[in-house]
Amino acid sequence: MSPDQDAVRERYANAARRALAGEATGELGAQHYAGEDVPETVAATSLGCGNPLAVADLRPGETVLDLGSGGGLDVLLSARRVGPSGRAIGLDMTDEMLALARRQAAQAEVANVEFVKGTIEAIPLPDNTVDVVISNCVIALSPDKPAVFAGVARVLRPGGRLGVTDLLAEETLTAAERAAADEECLGGALTADDYRALLHAAGLVDVDIRRTHEVGNKLYSAIIRASKPH
Ligand SMILES: C[S@@+](CC[C@H](N)C(=O)[O-])C[C@H]1O[C@@H](n2cnc3c(N)ncnc32)[C@H](O)[C@@H]1O
Repeated sequence: MSPDQDAVRERYANAARRALAGEATGELGAQHYAGEDVPETVAATSLGCGNPLAVADLRPGETVLDLGSGGGLDVLLSARRVGPSGRAIGLDMTDEMLALARRQAAQAEVANVEFVKGTIEAIPLPDNTVDVVISNCVIALSPDKPAVFAGVARVLRPGGRLGVTDLLAEETLTAAERAAADEECLGGALTADDYRALLHAAGLVDVDIRRTHEVGNKLYSAIIRASKPH
């Protein structure tokens, strides 16, 4: 099943409205940030399924792009890691999420961040300009994953890296179970084999997929790494 983008947008616009009104929305995401130096109120807006920064290995001066940046937590943490000579860019299609992320960045007084409106299927950045693409629990929501991976390969510099967390589906997920997962906009979650094949088809190499924890209903969270050839 292919996720309906309007349904996805509405779902996360609602979550952002609640966060902007001061309600905690990220009970599930916040747990992955234990040990990170991050304000509790910002961690409480995480809707991720892992912590891509635990694997992204960012270096000072690098440019990082977060696909589906939501409330901006991973962008703020990336900005700190790449330092003042680096940049962290968050991309999201939902106005309310962009408003939340910009507010949290201003409150954290982080300067080297920007939040850009757009879809991850048509990344609005020039070719060969990003060192590291991160993402936290977003690609599974996309109705056109080949376009996402082609865009990642296009914007990465030669030698650039992809390090994301995402929801994957067991091979045994039935059509009926997929339809049920779509109630959560997750009916398009890929199997690990399909994920690997699409990354390779986009020209990415050194693909590594590691299961981290079960999410239930034959969905699980994984860390996916790949790179663009030199
Ligand atoms: C599950 S939330 C994750 C947010 C954030 N990465 C985090 O860890 O808290 C999904 C986010 O991705 C955005 N999103 C979903 N599909 C998208 C797409 N195709 N293009 C751009 N943003 C998208 C939503 O607006 C939402 O902010």
